[in-house]
Parts: sequence; structure tokens; C-alpha cells
Amino acid sequence: QTPAGEAAAPNAMPQASSAPNQTLTILYASQTGNAKGVAEALHQEAEAAGIPAKLVAADNYKGKQLGKETHLVIVASTNGEGEPPDNAIELHEFLQSKKAPKLDHLHYAVLSLGDSSYEYFCQTGKDFDGFLQKLGAKPMVARLDCDVDYEATASAWREQTLAEVKQQFQASGDAQVVPLHQATAQAKYTKQSPYTAELLTCQRITGRGSDKAVYHIELDLDESGIEYQPGDALGVWYQNDPELVDSIVAKVGLRGDETVDIGGDSLSLRDALIAHYEITASNPQQITALAALSESDTLTALTEDKAGLREFANRTQLIDVLALADVNLNVEQFQSILRRLTPRLYSIASSQAEVEDEVHLTVGLVDYQHESGESRQGGASSFLAHRAEAAETVKVFVEHNDNFKLPTSDDTPIIMIGPGTGIAPFRAFLQEREQREAKGDNWLFFGDRTFTDDFLYQVEWQQYLKSGLLTRMDVAFSRDQAEKVYVQHRLLARAETVWQWLSNGAYIYVCGDANQMAKDVHEALIEIAQTQGQQSREQAETFINELRKDKRYQRDVY
Ligand code: 2AM
Repeated sequence: QTPAGEAAAPNAMPQASSAPNQTLTILYASQTGNAKGVAEALHQEAEAAGIPAKLVAADNYKGKQLGKETHLVIVASTNGEGEPPDNAIELHEFLQSKKAPKLDHLHYAVLSLGDSSYEYFCQTGKDFDGFLQKLGAKPMVARLDCDVDYEATASAWREQTLAEVKQQFQASGDAQVVPLHQATAQAKYTKQSPYTAELLTCQRITGRGSDKAVYHIELDLDESGIEYQPGDALGVWYQNDPELVDSIVAKVGLRGDETVDIGGDSLSLRDALIAHYEITASNPQQITALAALSESDTLTALTEDKAGLREFANRTQLIDVLALADVNLNVEQFQSILRRLTPRLYSIASSQAEVEDEVHLTVGLVDYQHESGESRQGGASSFLAHRAEAAETVKVFVEHNDNFKLPTSDDTPIIMIGPGTGIAPFRAFLQEREQREAKGDNWLFFGDRTFTDDFLYQVEWQQYLKSGLLTRMDVAFSRDQAEKVYVQHRLLARAETVWQWLSNGAYIYVCGDANQMAKDVHEALIEIAQTQGQQSREQAETFINELRKDKRYQRDVY
């Protein structure tokens, strides 16, 4: 997903200049088995020479591991037009992506197999050599590019390489250098002391034709030791848009370079507004205080109707309240109306069983036009979508959610209902169930505006349907036909089967919009219990409530 040719980002990986237990890792990228054969020979010869060595197929190797290796040999063959063998496509991609770790500590050697009658002779080996060098790794011996009659040259190269490895192992044999990361591995990251994660990927996953911008975000948890379960949320500390900050400061007649105190630190008002204050929202207290400071009739009138005030605050950003107040404030007055920024929670869209030290999010950009005609965006979502890439890092922590968890038994069937970005935790659920080889049936309901532009993670679901991990999938594209079709309509259309699943002990999960969708889905479930279970309305309500109490009906709605 990261564009090819992208320079490797510097990585926070602590450098263990010489690990106490050195191993030679031998990776093979093999299509027909020739490279594998050479790698196996090298492995045997290494062990015979007393060199601790392990042999791994490239597709069984997680690129991230490279950060922990000291000595590496890659034996790689090349496909027709210079492409890597199938079993090495991922590693090949990984090494040229931003995710690739810095490899200053790594000693390596590459042997490539190829056919000199092709234009891209030994290209894959050349690529690996180039990638590793670019990441800072040091060659132990020069790369060998073998033609079809490779046996003798390959054998001589192996001998030379092992001699070099042995010498390096012996030279550093007594050195007791403790890897730096041992000291930090135990650190605990919380809301108050979040982890600074590198942003790996930020990709829009809705089509051009969609007016909704949804982003797939990948963050690197690296060696943080942070653990999360499917269903957990990620807390994200964000930074406000500096342009918005400047407009706000100007609106109250300040400059921005005034000094303010934030928890004992003094910083400029501008920096404080970027990182410490909530400016993409407003609240009744703030509006009431501003009404008093400004003596604005409009604001004062607003404060007289409590319910109306709350509703107004919910859909109005600070800057638009300030416009109505139309008043100059001094720094103290201004600070007194500001609320401290709080992190936003996003349902995690990945399983650690699959993505290891990454965490993925599905983020819908909050973006609308204020009645003034100006565009307004959500603070956290616009940060993740637009500003995090420049910032390169995001401060995060895990918020565990015991109320949205897969069944303990892998055999239990589950029904997942997640329209829009509500799909996020179900991506995590399915990744987890795939990794666990869970036998339970999985049924996914997804809905969004259009099939063409809003079918989030479409390819992944198709693959899961094909592999059988997804037992069923029903989709509702609300704007692809004249009448609206929503997930609850699909649920009702499948009432009989839904009831069967429930009778077989299925768990139901709902994620997404709380205001409308979750309520309508809840209604649909009651209706299914009525019609399929021949229950009265009261019985059906009790039945669904019992499911809830038994944790067989779990919701993550917002
Ligand atoms: P709409 O915007 O076309 O009305 C994800 O946002 C999907 O949820 C969209 O297709 C949206 O449809 C749909 N949606 C809107 N209101 C809903 C509701 N009450 N119940 C279920 N889905 C709804």
C-alpha cells in the first residue's frame, strides 16, 4: 500500500550493536525450488561449521523481524520479467515500504539465481541487495548472480560466506552488549502517557465519487509491547489545524504569541490551541460564558432554551460561536472559556494475531459546510486524514472494551452488523478468527451509500467469502436505487435464517451509528423474535434483553 520507491523512514528501533545470541538467518525466495535447495545446503553447511543458523521460507518470515537479526543471507530466484517469486512478494514489497526498519546493525549477503537470457537477469536478488543496503545493512561478501548452471559457483560462494560469518561471530563472541530495547519493553502506555506511534499508512478507501472520505490508517506499535484484543479501541491524541487556530485567535483579537501556562509549562497561545484545547466543538457552558462576556443578544437568546442550546452546541464549532459573540478577549478571558482537548477513541480494525505490532483504524472524516459557507472538519479525523502524515507520528493508547469481545468459544457462530465505519471491529474479528482457525460460522452485514465508491474493504470480504471464513455476507447500498435500503432491511429479509442462527447460539454484534442505525437494528431484532419465534412484543423485548445480559448481543455504537 505504500508507493514503491518511497524512501525508508527512519525508525525508532533501538540499535543493539551486537546481540549476545547471534544467529545466521537464511531466507529463501524460491519459485521452483532451486533457491530453496541452495539455501538448504547453506543451512546444513552452517550447522556443520558450528554456526547457529535457521532456515525460513520468505513467506513464513515477517519483515519486521529483520530489525532483530544480526546476520542474514537471502537466496533469491527471479521470475520471468524480473518479478520476485510468489513466496517473496510480500517481503519484497515490505523492504521498499515505509514499514521497513532501519538495518544498521545487520550483516547480510545475497545470492541470486537467474537466467541470463532474460533482460531482468537476477533482478530479485539485485533488488534485495539494494533494499538492504539502503536500509543501512552491511554486506559481508559481494552478491553473487548465478546463471542457470549455478551449482559450482554457488557452492564456492557459500563457503566464502560461511567463513566470513564465522569470523564475525567469533570476533564479537565475548561482547556482552545488552540490547537497548530490553529497558523499554515493559513501559506502560496510558491516556496520560501515550505511545508515540509512527504513521505507516494513510489511505483513502472511498472512491472519488463518494462525498464521504473514509481513511484506512496503519500505525506502528513497534517494540512498545502494547497489546490489544479485537473489539478494543485506540485512543488518539490529535493536533488541531494551525490555520483554524490562526482564524480563532484573530477572531478574539489576539496574536497567538501570547504566553499561556499548560500544566506548569509555558507555551504560546497558538501552540496551546494546537495541542491542548478543544476547538472543533463547543458546549453549553462555553456558549453561556461567551454570551456573558460579549453581551451578544443572539447568544443570550440561545442560552434561554436548555435543550436548544445543547442541540446548537452539538453541531457548532467554537469558531462559529466566536463569530456570533463578536468580541475581543484578553488571554485570561479566552483561556477561561476553553476546554482541554480530550483524545478520540476509534474501534480498532485489526487483530494483532494478523498484523503483529501494527494497529489499523477506519476513520471517517467529519467534514461539512457551515451555514456561512465555510468548511468545517472534525479535529481528530482531519488530523489523521490530512495532518498526521506530515507529523509522522500519532500519540496513542489502548482502551480495552470488555463489552465487545468475540465469544470465548471459536465454535460459536457470530452475526456482525457494521454499516459505514462500523465495519472496523469486524475486520479485526475476522482477522482474529482466521488466525485462530476458528470453526464458528461468520455472517457479516455491511451497508453504505454506493457499491462503487463506499464498499469499504470490499476485496478482503470477497477473499473471506471465497476461503469460507465468511459464511454469509449481506450488503445494503442505500443510494444505489430509488428507495433506501439499510442493513436492518437485509436483516429482516433474512429473518428466518437469522432466527436459526440465534437458535444455534449465535452472538450478535452491532457497530456504528448510535442515533439511528443501532436503534433501527434493535427494532428489527425484536421484530424477528416476534415473527420467527412467535413471541408477543413484550416477550420479544425480553428475549432481546436477555441476549444482551448474556453478552450474546453486544454493541459498540457512537
Ligand atoms: P444514507 O446516508 O444513504 O441514508 C452508512 O453511513 C450507511 O448507513 C449509509 O448507507 C446510510 O444511508 C445508512 N443509514 C442512514 N440511516 C440509517 C439508519 N437509520 N439505519 C441504518 N442505516 C442507515
